[in-house]
Amino acid sequence: MSNADINDAGLHVEEVNLVEIAKKYGTPCYVYSRKALTESYTAYRNALAGHNDGNSLICYAVKANSNLAILNIFARLGAGFDIVSGGELARVIAAGGDAKKTVFSGVGKSHDEISAALQAGIKCFNIESSSELGRINTVAGNLGLVAPVSIRVNPDVDAKTHPYISTGLKTSKFGVAYGEALPLYRFAATMPNINVVGIDCHIGSQLLDSAPVAEATQKILSLVDALAAEGIKLKHIDIGGGMGIRYNDEAMPSTAEYLAPVLKTLAGRNESLLLEPGRSLVGNAGILLTKVEVLKQGGNDRDFVIIDAAMNDLMRPALYDAWHNIVPVRPRSGEARLCEVVGPVCESGDFLGHDRRLSVQEGDLLAILSAGAYGMTMSSNYNTRPRAAEVMVDGDKTYLIRKREEVAQLFAEEALLP
Ligand code: LLP
Repeated sequence: MSNADINDAGLHVEEVNLVEIAKKYGTPCYVYSRKALTESYTAYRNALAGHNDGNSLICYAVKANSNLAILNIFARLGAGFDIVSGGELARVIAAGGDAKKTVFSGVGKSHDEISAALQAGIKCFNIESSSELGRINTVAGNLGLVAPVSIRVNPDVDAKTHPYISTGLKTSKFGVAYGEALPLYRFAATMPNINVVGIDCHIGSQLLDSAPVAEATQKILSLVDALAAEGIKLKHIDIGGGMGIRYNDEAMPSTAEYLAPVLKTLAGRNESLLLEPGRSLVGNAGILLTKVEVLKQGGNDRDFVIIDAAMNDLMRPALYDAWHNIVPVRPRSGEARLCEVVGPVCESGDFLGHDRRLSVQEGDLLAILSAGAYGMTMSSNYNTRPRAAEVMVDGDKTYLIRKREEVAQLFAEEALLP
């Protein structure tokens, strides 16, 4: 299952009608399906089963959706985690995740974050610069520990995705330039508090074709072999995340089809394989449920459908011009009109969908689909709007996994001058 399915009673997630969820928890509200989360994880697991005796680890990229219930579902399924902050590490631990299966990515890890991760005993730091390598060596030395590291290499491959989410070109702030990787590994191997264990790359997100990832993997393998020839033997190869999802009518390969070229490139290798998928595990397992507040006639040929969700709840349309399908929870038979679906935030950029054909009335419920990834995690309190509730559906049951914020909470930490 993905997203929400429609039956005679209207739109539902698993066995629960979205009208019931809106009644019980209010709107706007993120709704996730445990079944869809499990299925997307299992698709990875199955695709990797035949590779290297199943010697691979799926490290869920926490930034895609960091709700504790979601992390816990993946932890129970055996997943590891890819984190980018001390905050995400704390979430993984609070959700019952295993630090020993956690890799720490990101270009600007602070002393405190490094120290917390070392003390938690994480699997590996994905290093993004020589300065960071030195810093980790120092912090580990002060703690009397040895830090396991992998160097994130920038393979200079064009992932052919949105420029904001493309990270593998040499102009990107991410990773260590390909030509600098070998000298940095040699240097790392001499450091007393560093243990070189792996290599990684991540070239971009929402990739519909894995050919660039296979190309990047091939380039990474040349480095692995060159290092082995010098006696520096790596234990794992981490090819990052990036597999896309279908938002509209994209021709999207299955997980197995997507991974096949990469697995072919890695066939016969002894190093274990790590992946860091985010979006493809959660994106189509969640929707944003919202209510039509106001209908307003527009100046041109289209009307405004003003809903109670806004750019602060789901930033992707405003930030990337991203397209999310928007469907009525109970379809009406009336004439569908051309609409702009917008939120109540005071910004012209506050839209959820341009040029949609909808037949709706004030008070109707709409579902914004494929909102499970980079939805709630990128939300904010702009315009002093409490963040949405989050609900998990499991069969015919629903669980509140994050309470809607209350207005008083939003300024509780602020202070007046004396
Ligand atoms: N590993 C690293 C090092 C990453 O930077 C990312 C995502 C991932 C893994 C997971 O990638 P995924 O499998 O989700 O594509 N906010 C944007 C996406 C930003 C992705 C950032 N890095 C969006 O809403 O499209």
